[in-house]
Amino acid sequence: MEATAPDHRFAEDYRLAREIPRDGLTAWRAAVAAEVDLAPGATLLDVGAGTGAFSSAFADWFGVRVLAVEPAAAMRALIPRTATIEPLDGRAEALPVPDRCADAAWLGSVVHHIGDLPAAARELRRALKPGAPVLIRNSFPGRCARDLRVRFFPGAERIVDGCPTVEQTCEAFAGAGFARVALHAVPQESAPSLAAFADRIRRDTDAKLRGLGDAEFERGMRRLRTAAEQEPDRPAVSWMDLLVLA
Ligand SMILES: C[S@@+](CC[C@H](N)C(=O)[O-])C[C@H]1O[C@@H](n2cnc3c(N)ncnc32)[C@H](O)[C@@H]1O
Repeated sequence: MEATAPDHRFAEDYRLAREIPRDGLTAWRAAVAAEVDLAPGATLLDVGAGTGAFSSAFADWFGVRVLAVEPAAAMRALIPRTATIEPLDGRAEALPVPDRCADAAWLGSVVHHIGDLPAAARELRRALKPGAPVLIRNSFPGRCARDLRVRFFPGAERIVDGCPTVEQTCEAFAGAGFARVALHAVPQESAPSLAAFADRIRRDTDAKLRGLGDAEFERGMRRLRTAAEQEPDRPAVSWMDLLVLA
């Protein structure tokens, strides 16, 4: 959970710092397409949609209708409201949608923000059609060495260690009848270069960096700037997991 409710400035900073350029998400598009057949017109539930980057990506990639559930008003205000994307005020533990309305659910960097994961799992069971998958994109304890934030800010691993593990997440969802279907590490190109990645960092928008001490944050930024000088043409590739439950 955020310490305080995000305001407009936080939401704008989040968008600048955390939204990944669409071209950098090619492997994510392929990974999702390999796990679920999202036909045009199908309904996707984006839970904890933030500023709607993935809502837009899913609408564009697959032609789906997106119900974008987001509790923070300032974040929700930046979700594009279009013919296919409907921003909704709500939380994972009490989804503002009818029973059996969705063909898949997407939880992007959100499981560690949800106060009551078993309650969220029960809500997803109610909101999803039978057999529909839950697609979880997250950094999980013990699996985050290729997350760029952990590579340059090793203390970030400590913060990831406080997030639910794959096993804890599966257990919370098992109570609502979901079983683990797949777990893949998937790359993203967060920025075209390490220098561009460094320029986009806004510490406050990222729980993995916010939790660091000032000195370890500064050391990480120096490490990152040095690597950027040594490898100016290297794209900033980071990895997170796709956990699929159904
Ligand atoms: C790190 S952001 C991720 C946003 C977006 N999914 C993305 O990948 O860019 C986490 C989001 O989860 C939202 N959130 C926090 N608690 C939540 C809850 N209980 N249910 C649903 N969303 C929640 C926050 O307001 C925030 O927008």
